[in-house]
Amino acid sequence: MYVCICNSVTDSDIRQAVQDGVRDQRELARKTGCSSDCGCCSEFALEVMNQALREQSSALPILQTA
Ligand code: FES
Repeated sequence: MYVCICNSVTDSDIRQAVQDGVRDQRELARKTGCSSDCGCCSEFALEVMNQALREQSSALPILQTA
């Protein structure tokens, strides 16, 4: 689904950006253009990015100490 109409950025684009190492909204704007024009998408883009970050961190293996 489109998150940013101004720059044709989808939720998949945001998830891919997170997989590529994006960790904040400034980096997301730099990488995808999301939120860099009218800014109407900022809140939803942040929500999608944070969800992707949570999913990514929960997919990491849990390290155990010896
Ligand atoms: S809808 Fe994203 S910058 Fe306008």
